[in-house]
Amino acid sequence: MTKKFKRTTVTAALPYANGPVHIGHLAGVYVPADIYVRYLRLKNEEVLFIGGSDEHGVPITIRAKKEGVKPQDIVDKYHHIIKKSFEDFGISFDIYSRTTSKTHHKVASDFFKKLYDQGEFIEKTSEQYYDEEAKQFLADRYIVGTCPHCKSENAYGDQCEACGTSLSPTDLINPHSTISGSKPVMRETKHWYLPLDKHEAGLRKWILEDHKEWKANVYGQCKSWLDMGLQPRAVSRDLDWGIPVPLKGAEGKVLYVWFDAPIGYISNTVELLPDSWEKWWKDKDTRLIHFIGKDNIVFHCIVFPSMLKAEGSYILPDNVPANEFLNLEGDKISTSRNWAVWLNEYLEDFPGKQDVLRYVLTANAPETKDNDFTWKDFQARNNNELVAIFGNFINRAMVLTHKYFEGKIPARDVLTDYDQETIAEFVSVKKNVESYLDVFRFRDAQKEAMTLARIGNKYLADTEPWKVAKTDMKRVGTILNLSLQIAANLSIAFEPFLPFSSKKLRDMLGMEAFKWNSLGSIDLLPEGHQTAKPELLFEKIEDDVVEAQIKKLQDTKKANETAEHKVEPAKADIDFEQFTKMDIRIGKVLEAELVPKTSKLMKLKVDTGMDQRTIVSGIAEHFKPEEVIGKQVCVLVNLEARKLRGIESQGMILMAEDADGKLVFIQPSEIVTNGSQVK
Ligand code: 2FM
Ligand code: ZN
Repeated sequence: MTKKFKRTTVTAALPYANGPVHIGHLAGVYVPADIYVRYLRLKNEEVLFIGGSDEHGVPITIRAKKEGVKPQDIVDKYHHIIKKSFEDFGISFDIYSRTTSKTHHKVASDFFKKLYDQGEFIEKTSEQYYDEEAKQFLADRYIVGTCPHCKSENAYGDQCEACGTSLSPTDLINPHSTISGSKPVMRETKHWYLPLDKHEAGLRKWILEDHKEWKANVYGQCKSWLDMGLQPRAVSRDLDWGIPVPLKGAEGKVLYVWFDAPIGYISNTVELLPDSWEKWWKDKDTRLIHFIGKDNIVFHCIVFPSMLKAEGSYILPDNVPANEFLNLEGDKISTSRNWAVWLNEYLEDFPGKQDVLRYVLTANAPETKDNDFTWKDFQARNNNELVAIFGNFINRAMVLTHKYFEGKIPARDVLTDYDQETIAEFVSVKKNVESYLDVFRFRDAQKEAMTLARIGNKYLADTEPWKVAKTDMKRVGTILNLSLQIAANLSIAFEPFLPFSSKKLRDMLGMEAFKWNSLGSIDLLPEGHQTAKPELLFEKIEDDVVEAQIKKLQDTKKANETAEHKVEPAKADIDFEQFTKMDIRIGKVLEAELVPKTSKLMKLKVDTGMDQRTIVSGIAEHFKPEEVIGKQVCVLVNLEARKLRGIESQGMILMAEDADGKLVFIQPSEIVTNGSQVK
């Protein structure tokens, strides 16, 4: 059942203002949100696009401390950098404000107060670490100590970055405060909790029954949270950076950043439309859509809706099309490791090429699974798609029109059957693009828009106007008229995806007003209409340019590796022959048990596809037998048998070991038949 809405409020996650934005942000959230909004605007729908910076939270205070400045200085700096990047990339927010604004402080504070007055919170006192020297409670990130699991000495109160284990501050051995260095003590503190459990049944129905159409990744994550059962969540913190808890006796306490941030969407609407904001948030005929990354799903699908519901007068989101993550050259994007393509740096290296990045990020969008950005793919998509298909078609159509008709749209004569077929083909593009955009499938939508250019190219190649020109100028006129109508259609179809190039194309065609609904028309450009001089829409990107980008990343990687730990240097070369002597197969572990009286060894029974054999492996300190059973692994099957603790081991399981000694299995990326060869 699809409900008809009067208007749409679109929000895009508020990025933390403690660093610039990178391609992962753009691909995951802002480009898809912008495509969607531009599409709705083109259809003349009433739509509002809300963005802003998320300026509270502990990481900002840590960064400020490190740099010896105030948190406000940090967020001032990055808010402006981020805002400019979004403008540069054409992310067409109706407002981009910030959570340190006066309006937001008031709106968030009032929101909390209303929930408090309505009795929506539970008050709870618990013991938390307190720094007696600095006279403050310590956020988890402000406490370091020894990890109880790997014994790393620099584990944080919420996580050990050496072994990846989630911790709570009381797990740490020998905890100390990063502010004063002193040993913290336990002290009682009071906080306010939102009882999510109270909203669980409502959320179950609302999401699991009424929103089955949500993307599978979003629905699945919600379901698993709901199936685990919801717990009350603290919505306040002991911290001196944030929005003060608006209650007597709550000095030194602020709203938890994840309580105030989503309210930022509302505050920014209030700031933009002080007199008419309510209809965008409270009218049942308004559709609310949150664009976010997958790490924000629980907050937007469970916590924020519970807050809105508790408040009572707000609508709930109609959809939350969250994306997965974008990796960079095979590695997770990381701000701290500088493993990213920063938008401001991209524009320094590729001035004017915003649309190329928008195109590639959409073509590769992590819509259903994590995806990888590589510079080679960036180059290939630019050269083989934007230049060779889209740009080439426009250029040919324009140049020929200038050559034969002084740039004026020629008259259309009788249409051939082939012309009619071509028209029928491109008319269907509109419906196809729409059907994808309506369900947030932007990759497919963009691909479909590109078919228009393919149709145009094929049409020119098949009709060969440059040959026909020798005999029949009327026919040439018809061919170029239709070609330019396709070009005009391209400028409409690509407006949501590539706004800069679409505008450039419209300028070339001398086209001003246009509407989404005209997509599919062959009468966009009247006969005799003068077009401007042809210019290239896209330029080829040469090898040396992308190689320089790859080199930049390699240098980053090298610098990180030296900083983090030593990587073993490569061993001496072997020849191919020597390599092929190793017989490596995929096998499945059938049984596993610890070898008595040793700490390291585990005895495994492995199905190698050829036989079932015993292998003794030195993995017992890293895995439990039950974690290993059932795994597919790589086995060196022609290694000479040898006895370990009296057990004959017939082969070796291949593992990867990092510099810290952490072991992981080498596994096929999907299940294959046991006995498959590794080559
Ligand atoms: O994950 C993040 O970057 C958060 N700053 C997103 C906040 S979205 C919303 F709630 F404001
Ligand atoms: Zn650890």
